[in-house]
Amino acid sequence: MERGAGSTESPTRGFVYRAAALAAVGGLLFGYDTGVISGALLFLRKAFHLSHTAQEVVVSVVLLGALVGALAAGRLTDRFGRRTTLLATSLVFIVGALLCAAAPTVDWLIAGRLVVGVAIGLASTAVPVYISEIAPAAVRGWMVSLFQLAVTLGIVVAYAVDYAFAHVEGWRWMLGLAVVPALVLGAGMLVMPNSPRWLLMQGREAEARQVLDRIREPHEIDGEVREIAASLHQQRGTWRELLTPAVRPALVVGVGLAIFQQVTGINTVIYYAPTILQTAGFSSASGAILATLGIGVVNVLMTVVALPLLDRVGRRPLLLGGIAGMAISLGLLGFAFRSPALAQHLGWASVIGLMLYVGSFALSLGPVFWLLIAEIYPLRIRGLAASLAAAVNWASNGLVALTFLSLIHAVGRSWAFWLYALLSVAAWLFTWLRVPETRGRTLEEIEAAWRSGSLEATTQEGARPYVGRRGRA
Ligand code: BGC
Repeated sequence: MERGAGSTESPTRGFVYRAAALAAVGGLLFGYDTGVISGALLFLRKAFHLSHTAQEVVVSVVLLGALVGALAAGRLTDRFGRRTTLLATSLVFIVGALLCAAAPTVDWLIAGRLVVGVAIGLASTAVPVYISEIAPAAVRGWMVSLFQLAVTLGIVVAYAVDYAFAHVEGWRWMLGLAVVPALVLGAGMLVMPNSPRWLLMQGREAEARQVLDRIREPHEIDGEVREIAASLHQQRGTWRELLTPAVRPALVVGVGLAIFQQVTGINTVIYYAPTILQTAGFSSASGAILATLGIGVVNVLMTVVALPLLDRVGRRPLLLGGIAGMAISLGLLGFAFRSPALAQHLGWASVIGLMLYVGSFALSLGPVFWLLIAEIYPLRIRGLAASLAAAVNWASNGLVALTFLSLIHAVGRSWAFWLYALLSVAAWLFTWLRVPETRGRTLEEIEAAWRSGSLEATTQEGARPYVGRRGRA
């Protein structure tokens, strides 16, 4: 079960780490391109005389593109491979960034943002799947979560770049600089190997063995090839298969977590923190932006804390603990906006509340969602199923982004936070009832455990059954 755990420091492991870190640059672009617009918008508004609606389109067209990209990624990663899809993704990122940076008109800008969105959607499916398929089981948790770490870093870098170019109104630089990591991703993937699991799925065993030779110890290779080949005989890769009894529980977990990761409100903070802080009493825009940068840094640091815990403590305990923290901090934020006693200190109270909330997210739903959708599905339909979960995530993201300001307008800030708190309670219950523990198991063991029902019905490797649907074959 812990195959390879004892040899995690060998040169072959070094190669896997580099491949994973490189693929995670796709996450950096995801974070950068979603974060950069908050600052750039101030100048785009002026340069193109953007109406309210036009601003909303410029911001949210990325989410539409990401939805399309995530859906397309399923077929592309299965047919052309994870690595080729990532190579294409880097090209799409470059085209999108150049279109935005050079945009002479709003229409060009919107087209550029749509293209960038497609690239983000492609990356959000292909990166976690690629890393999960090259990582040794014992360290897969933190390696796949490098993706989420890169997302959080990308957001902070974007805030910093916005800040740096603000005095020259340099929105073209802000949007165009994404070309740099995109080039790193493309150049790096050129020299990285294909996923051995995808190669075996294509019947290219000799090549798969060559790759395994570079990323595993010699004694691990035969066993891994046998295990992957056995899993391939069990499944057929079609959309319809997602609904078969053997796969449905995993589908429910992926889609459920996709929705809960977004409807518990994370991007109201990532996209609107300066707005929230200004209404809480931060009078200057730069003070609000600086506090937002602080929240972004907490997001990065707590993701770093989560990384080793994923493989040591497990995915479920982190999810349950972190989501509880989210519910509590959201509840407190709701009270802070009501309490007359706090009125004097509301600005700081909300910064602390938002930091607690973002920190709890970074320990739980942030990394664990992207990790689980890359590891809980059978190989033959992994690309399709992960892409469906990612697409649902992007659709839910769009829904929250488009409704947040109207929600605050309709029910007030306190009730908006309490609504997200309630949804966090629902997310906690969903996790408790449905989400399995995958720590330390190979992808093939996870697949076999779903089929036998043992994964569904247990939490820590057979201990402590949880109250859910019982195992079905
Ligand atoms: C989410 C994004 C979010 C980011 C914040 C990701 O896992 O999918 O929507 O902006 O975390 O760190």
